[in-house]
Amino acid sequence: MKHINIFLSALLGLSTPAIVKAEIVDISTPNTSLILDAEKGGSLRLLHYGNKMASSDIATLKEAGAIDRNAYPVYGILPQGEAAMSVTHADGNMTTDVEVTGIDTTTAPDGAKVTTISMRDKVYPFNLNVNYRTYPAEDVIETWVDVTNNEKGTVRLNRFMSGYLPVRYGDVWLSQLYGSWANEGKLSQTPLNHGVRMIKNKDGVRNSHTSHAEIMLSLDGKPQENTGRTIGAALEYSGNYKLFIDTDDSNYHHFFAGINEENSAYNLKKGESFVTPPLALTYSEEGLSGVSRNFHRWGRNHRLHNGNKERRILLNSWEGVYFDIDEAGMAGMMKDIADMGGELFVMDDGWFGDKYPRDNDSTSLGDWVVDTDKLPNGIQGLIETAKSNGIKFGIWIEPEMTNTVSELYEKHPEYIIKAAKRPATQGRGGTQLVLDLANPKVQDIVFTVVDTLMRKYPEIDYIKWDANAPIMDHGSQYLTADNQSHLYIDYHQGFETVLNRIRKAHPDVTIQACASGGGRANWGVLPWFDEFWTSDNNDALQRIYMQWGTSYFFPAIAMGSHISASPNHQTFRRIPVKFRADVAMSGRLGLELQPKNMTDEEKAIVKNAIADYKKIRPIVQFGDIYRLVSPYDGKGVASMMYITPEKDDAVFYWWKTETFMNQQLPRVVMAGLDPDKTYTVTELNRIDNEPLSFEGKSFTGRYLMSNGLEIPLTHKVDYHKNTDYASRILRLTAK
Ligand code: GLA
Repeated sequence: MKHINIFLSALLGLSTPAIVKAEIVDISTPNTSLILDAEKGGSLRLLHYGNKMASSDIATLKEAGAIDRNAYPVYGILPQGEAAMSVTHADGNMTTDVEVTGIDTTTAPDGAKVTTISMRDKVYPFNLNVNYRTYPAEDVIETWVDVTNNEKGTVRLNRFMSGYLPVRYGDVWLSQLYGSWANEGKLSQTPLNHGVRMIKNKDGVRNSHTSHAEIMLSLDGKPQENTGRTIGAALEYSGNYKLFIDTDDSNYHHFFAGINEENSAYNLKKGESFVTPPLALTYSEEGLSGVSRNFHRWGRNHRLHNGNKERRILLNSWEGVYFDIDEAGMAGMMKDIADMGGELFVMDDGWFGDKYPRDNDSTSLGDWVVDTDKLPNGIQGLIETAKSNGIKFGIWIEPEMTNTVSELYEKHPEYIIKAAKRPATQGRGGTQLVLDLANPKVQDIVFTVVDTLMRKYPEIDYIKWDANAPIMDHGSQYLTADNQSHLYIDYHQGFETVLNRIRKAHPDVTIQACASGGGRANWGVLPWFDEFWTSDNNDALQRIYMQWGTSYFFPAIAMGSHISASPNHQTFRRIPVKFRADVAMSGRLGLELQPKNMTDEEKAIVKNAIADYKKIRPIVQFGDIYRLVSPYDGKGVASMMYITPEKDDAVFYWWKTETFMNQQLPRVVMAGLDPDKTYTVTELNRIDNEPLSFEGKSFTGRYLMSNGLEIPLTHKVDYHKNTDYASRILRLTAK
């Protein structure tokens, strides 16, 4: 309030109170500002979002031609434009017209400022608050809305977006992620033209296979990685979303983001409130990579579970043995990963089921008891084996699901999602069903799966939490007939309730969000999860493209990235292990193969890669990203780097993405270094017979950022070891 009043008095000092009506609210971080006009009795106006504003410029913003648009447009009066919220009041009136009633600013214990602009409908006792929370160290501002129904009867929310941002019309480009199962995180960059661009999800359970709830807007034409004014936006939600940009005949691109309201109208009884998920906004003048760095830092510091704790190097059993779990096989894999320097073994699907053993994907989900035919000494036996190898043990579960062939479903058919009067549609394996997390009894069951495992086996270090089905029928056996439209939202509220309980009881176990590969790469789930599974596709070449896109919004520490077998199980491409390791080492490194099928030479390369990764792990997992050459630009090479915040240690990655004879590749210029520091170059994962010409040599940051280093196109190896792949990882250490 004090802050606000300072600006008010500054304004009042400049002109007479009769002329100045604005009540300026300045929501700033060190490098960004969001400026509102929240005059009581008026509508809430957004004047600016972007670069940090000097107070003198704030005072003359309106004269300069500020945005001056409704900061959260509601539906009904002049209904032609898109609205962020639309409501049917208790008496059937479909118009809402709110005015500002108050401004409240509180300071959270971490120094963050939360500003709430309270509004109320001019006629109805319907309250709407627009909230803003600043994260000063990361230049992120979150916005969200909460509404309370104080009317006499039920109010129906027809649309309830988290936020709205008008962006000045111009050569604005949208960067977004799209894809499919096994092809997640693909990057699309296109200019905004007239009409509506919509990004949406309707899966019900998983929300990041086909599109993502995060975007970037480049304000200075074609997006650049390290230059240009760029806005980033991330909806923090795990369910169905809708992001859209309406470029109409005004001077603005109108950006809206929130829960997808389609088939999800929400009934608020008298006295009830509804809170939208937050929309995180950031702004950088250092291009797309600048926005990524803000999101990564914010995510690690405030959102990602245990975001500042190093992640272990693991072997996952899935592609090594699939459902063929047995004790000797698990023990062999544990010894092999320990021998290569790994730190954790994760037993994937196939370990459970008593009456119905899980031998394939058509049975047993819900029956989380160990199959003692496969594992006579149970989970404790596996933990002991892990311990004797000096590594940790982790396990796969899929607790939101069941199969028609399971003891759980036999006992509780009422717990599944299913439309009244119709048979349930069945998914994976022809039998998979989704449990109805809207139902508190189901929430208990899902909580108990994890709680029981962790209580019985407190030494479990890691859980891979999978979710392999969408909501296949719109129907809850728990919700009342008039609230069936709550299903999608209540499912995710139930999911959050369960996760809160789990984290309260078990704060330390690492939990991976997997959902048919990369179906849960979103900032909605990461407060409870330590990482996500990026994709079921482990092909190193395709991973370069997928991880490039994923890195726009998510830090390497959260991005599971595994060395898999050759030929690859998805694309059948044959890629040498050096290249596979060099790609996997740009994320949270792991292995996903059968070590006993590796040659001794491959094992030696991986052992070396693991040892090298341990050295650079803090730089990769906590460093700042600078993307240099995009694989999407088709230049034959992709390159990026991570650097410590102190700029004293960096890792540079260079991957050749295609091979032609006598081809010419660009020389990659680095970024993010300190121009005045001198960096010594060491190649990691070296396979060449001779060191690179610049091995052990030192260069100034200035030189490396203007000229880069000449990377040879091929590896100097014995003739029979030549392949069509080449890649390099260089460590740059400042003296
Ligand atoms: C999903 C996951 C895989 C694996 C299988 C097990 O597809 O994405 O990594 O865990 O389930 O059934």
